[in-house]
Amino acid sequence: PHIPVICVDGPTASGKGTLASEVARRLGYHYLDSGALYRITGLAAVRAGLALDVAHEHTIARMAETLPVVFVDGSVLLAGQDVTDDIRTEEAGMNASKVSALPAVRSALVALQQSFRRLPGLVADGRDMGTVIFPDAPMKVFLTASAGQRADRRHKQLISKGIQAKIDDLRADLEARDARDSNRAVAPLKPAQDALLLDNSSQTVEESVAQVLRWWEEKQ
Ligand code: C5P
Repeated sequence: PHIPVICVDGPTASGKGTLASEVARRLGYHYLDSGALYRITGLAAVRAGLALDVAHEHTIARMAETLPVVFVDGSVLLAGQDVTDDIRTEEAGMNASKVSALPAVRSALVALQQSFRRLPGLVADGRDMGTVIFPDAPMKVFLTASAGQRADRRHKQLISKGIQAKIDDLRADLEARDARDSNRAVAPLKPAQDALLLDNSSQTVEESVAQVLRWWEEKQ
């Protein structure tokens, strides 16, 4: 059916979440943070004592398929336990990147992601929303920003949560994560052929939001 989806894909800390959730809010659409699903899967696997590698691919995929996860008012509950902050650490991001490189884990999360496509519409952010999960989406945005800008933003975000971090370490981490996400065999990070490219390095959040909403209006 023709339930509209706006895909926002891009590298780590490019501002996808901020942009996508705000566009969803303005349009009154649902919002899917697909990265959260990989973060939760990584956390669940680590808590189960599993190494995040191919040896455990199918065990982790089964966990992903049956994740006891609930999203309520901006909080994430895993088996009833609040893991909202636990999945936002750099370590959780790195673990998400590891489990997300396992093809069986990616397949296990497809149906769950697609189930977020409900009326009146969806804004979905991630790495492969436009290329794999919603290939028929009427609008796909590929968001980028320089590595320096992204490290700087991630740093501010962490500081505001009272988490200490060094900008240089953050930059090294996000470049390592980008490299893994871009070079994996399945669903690598890359713009869909029909994606609109948006570099927000020198844009405010409001400017990027306005740009995406303008593009969306032009499509109607
Ligand atoms: O977007 P976020 O940083 O929360 O994503 C965490 C990790 O999950 C990414 O580095 C990426 O490896 C993986 N991911 C993915 N596909 C998505 C969303 C996230 O592979 N659609």
